[in-house]
Amino acid sequence: MGKNVRFGIIGCGLMGREFASAAARWQHFTEEIPQPQLIAVCDVNPSGRKWFTNHVPTVQYEYDDYRELLKNPEVEAVYCAVPHHLHEEIYVAVIESGKHLMGEKPFGIDQAANDHILEALQEHPEVFARCASEFPYFPAMQVMLSWIREEKFGRILEIKAGFNHSSDMDTKKPINWKRQACYNGAYGCIGDLGIHTQHVPFRMGFLPRNVYASLRKYINQRPDGKGGTAACDTWDNAVLFCEAVDKRGETVPMTLETKRMSPGDTNNWYFEIYGMEASAKFTSSKPDIFTFTQSWGKEQAWADIHIGYKPMLPTITGPIFEFGFTDAILQMWGAYMKELDGRQVSFGCFTPEETALSHRLSTAALRSYEERKAMDL
Ligand SMILES: NC(=O)c1ccc[n+]([C@@H]2O[C@H](COP(=O)([O-])OP(=O)(O)OC[C@H]3O[C@@H](n4cnc5c(N)ncnc54)[C@H](O)[C@@H]3O)[C@@H](O)[C@H]2O)c1
Repeated sequence: MGKNVRFGIIGCGLMGREFASAAARWQHFTEEIPQPQLIAVCDVNPSGRKWFTNHVPTVQYEYDDYRELLKNPEVEAVYCAVPHHLHEEIYVAVIESGKHLMGEKPFGIDQAANDHILEALQEHPEVFARCASEFPYFPAMQVMLSWIREEKFGRILEIKAGFNHSSDMDTKKPINWKRQACYNGAYGCIGDLGIHTQHVPFRMGFLPRNVYASLRKYINQRPDGKGGTAACDTWDNAVLFCEAVDKRGETVPMTLETKRMSPGDTNNWYFEIYGMEASAKFTSSKPDIFTFTQSWGKEQAWADIHIGYKPMLPTITGPIFEFGFTDAILQMWGAYMKELDGRQVSFGCFTPEETALSHRLSTAALRSYEERKAMDL
């Protein structure tokens, strides 16, 4: 693979712009990693494309139909960041075009869509595909991952992970596609936020065997932004109570929560692990802090380490500085590009196989709520 990889973006919204920004500061890395070179963009909305043609000098091609972008032989890889109801059609088309794919979660609006995407990948083993998930790249989470690998926690008692928001507490906030099941899917907040809670436990070998789900809808209508109202028919909050089996074969209770109505939370991603020898917590609300306790028997004390800027892939930023969301996106893309280049990273992006497990869990969660009982996966 050459030094740069020529990329197209399909979906020039919030996440498309985040990718362009990360790709533009590749000089941040201190090691040689192939750089994404953004040459083509596609969006049905001209104003989405305009941002890119105004701000990204390497963009040479602009399309309103993704099929045209996929016909461009110069494009080697595609970042696809479109609403969930389009994942299946567009991801499968990207894969069949032989271009590499970074897809967005939930990697298909439902189980059938995800199955179809994975079948296309099986038929095209030459395509490298991953699903975006950036929070594990916070340096404090990298410490957490080392502690898990080094088995510092001893026998695991429990895991809790979550991704919570509060902006929907504003009942006057206008509707968008993420609050409408026809675009966002029946999973609601689980499909939108769930993969973020699953990346670390799945990769660390905590695999859910069953689930009991509590799903809540609080707001049924929202302003449509045009003076009227529109149905808001997605799940607002979900708590999934799972039993996972860890690498030792032990059963570990695992709670995964995804909430849009979580007072005080702004994009709060967290992970907590409780063990016989030690326990630890991370929350993106305190992005620099790794909180841990060691077991001294009867009593324990929590302590905070301020980790500083010590990410998985080294950068020019000094280790005493702070790390943030845009840095996590850059790390995620660095990991994707290294893996695409055939190199190892200590913590890689969410794999298509992991998205399949995620869909089995989300589908079982919906059935669990319908039948009000625990479901095996
Ligand atoms: N990894 C993360 O942290 C994260 C955060 C937010 C969203 N997402 C995911 O990213 C994806 C996109 O979300 P977003 O927040 O960027 O949404 P967005 O609404 O900001 O952007 C989506 C874009 O897709 C465009 N689009 C719609 N139909 C299209 C079509 N047929 N062809 C081309 N473009 C089309 C829209 O015009 C829009 O510009 C979703 O899958 C979402 O779940 C991921």
